[in-house]
Amino acid sequence: MIKKILHISVAAICLQSQPGWAVPAEGHRLLVAAPSPYAIETAEEIISAGGNVADVAVAIGLTLSVTSPYYAALGGGGFALIRMRGESAVLDFRETAPAKTHENFYADPKNSSIKGGSAVGIPGVPAGLIALHEKYGSLKWQRLFKPALKFAEQGFAVSGEWTSKTTREQEHFSPGAFQVFFKAKKQTYKPGEVLKQKQLAQAIKLLRDKKRKGFYEGPVAQDLVKSVQAQGGVLSSEDLKNYSVVWRKPLEAQWGDYQLLLMPPPSSGGAVIKIAASLASMLKPEKYPALGAEEAHLLGEILSRSYRGRTRLADPAFHNNPFDLLFSSKYIEDLKNKISMKRTQSLAPLSDSTVKESTQTTHYSIMDKDGNAISLTVTLNGNYGSRVVSEKYGIALNNEMDDFTTQPGKPNMYGLIQGSGNLVRPGQRPLSSMSPTIITKDGKSVMAIGAPGGPRIISSVFQVIYRSLFRNMDLDMAIQAPRVHHQFLPHTLYVDDQRWSPEVITALKKKGHKIEPSWMGRVYAVRLKSDGLLEAAFDARGEGSAGGF
Ligand code: DON
Repeated sequence: MIKKILHISVAAICLQSQPGWAVPAEGHRLLVAAPSPYAIETAEEIISAGGNVADVAVAIGLTLSVTSPYYAALGGGGFALIRMRGESAVLDFRETAPAKTHENFYADPKNSSIKGGSAVGIPGVPAGLIALHEKYGSLKWQRLFKPALKFAEQGFAVSGEWTSKTTREQEHFSPGAFQVFFKAKKQTYKPGEVLKQKQLAQAIKLLRDKKRKGFYEGPVAQDLVKSVQAQGGVLSSEDLKNYSVVWRKPLEAQWGDYQLLLMPPPSSGGAVIKIAASLASMLKPEKYPALGAEEAHLLGEILSRSYRGRTRLADPAFHNNPFDLLFSSKYIEDLKNKISMKRTQSLAPLSDSTVKESTQTTHYSIMDKDGNAISLTVTLNGNYGSRVVSEKYGIALNNEMDDFTTQPGKPNMYGLIQGSGNLVRPGQRPLSSMSPTIITKDGKSVMAIGAPGGPRIISSVFQVIYRSLFRNMDLDMAIQAPRVHHQFLPHTLYVDDQRWSPEVITALKKKGHKIEPSWMGRVYAVRLKSDGLLEAAFDARGEGSAGGF
């Protein structure tokens, strides 16, 4: 497998890293599934220094901001689902809309929500890492920076994904990118070539030494504001100074013997998974042969109905999320009664529609032997976000503003139709699909799971939980197994490209499904096995690595 080869070759370069023995990786102490072998090297260094899951999560976040800037740069945002010492919490470090934006901001054609300064939301990653460490970390803050600074200052061998994702944006980048991600004359780095980021190392040191003030104020903040404004954006120093994370309670759901700790709004992920889990508990897709057409049809119908309520969700600070309706037995029972095993059926939308979603995000899952777990998704939204890279420090900035309802009534690049609760308002967080999830059984953590993939995150996380816990597949098999995706609108069943047999596809078409081959979310998960050991696995649909001790 390409990923294993990548892991082994990079491990050889980094010397310290353990080889990837197998997928899933197994361990007895603390395991991680992440998108890069550099994350695993970082984790192993921090565990060896005595770090806990929170220390590992923070150090990986810093490392990925250096080695995977297209989705994990400091200019992005994210969510973490946390279970520490038996208590659970949600850390929301989602980007927010700058003060100078408004509901009609994107009606002006010069303001793009996808590219350039106008697409940038106020970044949350540095504040998120600080908050995570302050509440749960055990090692000194400064210690967590060592691996990231080594990669930034001494360099790291870029991966195939790094090269393709960077080359792809060559025509769209702001000038700052050419000082850091390209050689002279805009030449790209080939996979295996070593990239150093000295300016970024300076910014990371300011964060290390001055914490919040090192990023949200002072020279880094000035660089971000100047670079965004030069590209037509409205981000201000006040916006950065005022940014704050929010601690939330997870949304909870029951599925069989398992308790799901799910991501609440401003993500739609938890609510959709909760509805899907209720429907799956009643309809039991596991009654049908695994990976056959009946099971795929039923999963598709469950997903389609579960996504129906997504248009009604938004940031709870600005919007009243109608959970009384969406989680009521009557609503769920109605959805269930409209499922037929013979033919697919489309339902009328709930009143209210429209917003956007996009293409680059990543996730890592961490769990230790005592059940402490962190499931953390981080994103710039699109690949390199807005494609604005700050001129002095080389920090890539998100285009998370595109997750708002920017043009009511119009489907976004993923065909998602969203609601008016999610209009652009200063300080509001755009609706997300990110679904970091932790699962417990009898009060014990048994799985930490999540994925990138826009709306496909939700369907991917749901199906891997289903296959692993209700089909008893080992974690790797559950992740690699073919998936379907249905997001209510359009009434199309997206099927994992090249993974389903022609017989299954034919049978699904006979049930009336409009079929479209598609990409899926990339899942990273850690699970506690029945023998008490931990296993961690990552999705072969992209780069990844799993390890720990
Ligand atoms: O928050 C969200 O739902 C999106 N910004 C996530 C985008 C994403 O996962 C793209 N990944 N491939």
